[in-house]
Amino acid sequence: MSEEMVVTPWKVSGEVNYERLMEQFGTKPITKPLLDRMRRIAGYLHLQLRRGIFFSHRDFDWWLDMYEAGQPVGLYTGRGPSGPCHLGHLLPWFFTKHLQDVFDAHLYFQMTDDEKYLIHPELTLEDTVGYTYENALDLIAVGFDPEKTHIISNVNHVHRLYRLALQVAKHVTYSTVKAIFGFTDSDNIGIIWFPAMQAVPCFIQSIIEGHNVAVLIPAAIDQDPYWRMTRDIAEKLGFYKPAQIHAKFLPGLGRGGKMSASMPETAIFTIDPPEVAARKIMNAYTGGRATAEEQRRLGGDPSICTVYAYYYYLFEEDDKRLRELEHRCRSGELLCGECKAELAERVKRFLRDFQRRREKARNQLDRFFLE
Ligand code: TYM
Repeated sequence: MSEEMVVTPWKVSGEVNYERLMEQFGTKPITKPLLDRMRRIAGYLHLQLRRGIFFSHRDFDWWLDMYEAGQPVGLYTGRGPSGPCHLGHLLPWFFTKHLQDVFDAHLYFQMTDDEKYLIHPELTLEDTVGYTYENALDLIAVGFDPEKTHIISNVNHVHRLYRLALQVAKHVTYSTVKAIFGFTDSDNIGIIWFPAMQAVPCFIQSIIEGHNVAVLIPAAIDQDPYWRMTRDIAEKLGFYKPAQIHAKFLPGLGRGGKMSASMPETAIFTIDPPEVAARKIMNAYTGGRATAEEQRRLGGDPSICTVYAYYYYLFEEDDKRLRELEHRCRSGELLCGECKAELAERVKRFLRDFQRRREKARNQLDRFFLE
């Protein structure tokens, strides 16, 4: 029997059924008219929209209305710094960078070094705050605009957040967060308060600019519980409800499940030596058959193949070539060894380039962090 689907900010397990998640969470699908609208505004359709990687939303259409009406719009996303970043984390950031370029919008980026300290017994505050600055290098390497990107460390910038967090917290009851996040009596009181902190950057640009800003949050769908809570209280505090656009999860390289730092052999970290990443890919779970002879005769199955998923999500931009790859796999012409070796080459090239940019980012940190 397959494991039951669980999707929370702290745990994703079982086979994720995105249709069912939209129903459970009460979000809307990204429809063709919405895609057409984005194509018109951006001049083309980004890979992550074309391929349905960003698949669901709340009020994205309203956010576009605000933009087209000339109202101020902004972006907000974040990272829980509990270790090095992997490709799954980069996925929504690549798309966020696209949104920043198209909409010329400010991005507030929250590092929840408090959250990760509170939920991981083995991590100290020095660890999580240290990862804040290490993970910021990854964010900067994605190519965000230093004039329009503002990184917040919850621990170090608490003086910029606390007033708003108190206002949020005053309007959210324990029974609400218990229902949304599943807190129990044995959870520490820090994590019970924490959702108020993650709500704050939805409103911070409005406070800084002195007028209401329509905020869009691009992230994978695991973060949605925070926005359900925040949307409930936003108007009570005099702000707009934040809009969201939700991504699917980049799978890990093993059988089933999202890419997760807790399974390092099936995750590609941005700081992995390229050869190490290549080895992980060569060991990946594929949709191949037991023998080469069988595969030539029966073909492979890209729909369950993690290697194909990497081409699909990140490493084959060209739709025509992706279709050819799929066809060559299904027809038995392309064997897994060759397909993996090609992906490994692309990932190595990507990592070498990314790691160079990441090192260059070390002396740019000051330009990106909030004062
Ligand atoms: P964190 O560090 O768990 O994740 C950071 C971002 O990466 C996304 N993500 C993934 N996306 C695709 N495939 C995956 N395998 C994958 N794994 C993680 C997450 O959805 C997230 O967008 N509490 C948050 C930090 C945070 C935040 C935010 C995130 C604070 N404010 C606003 C998004 C938006 C956290 O621990 O994220």
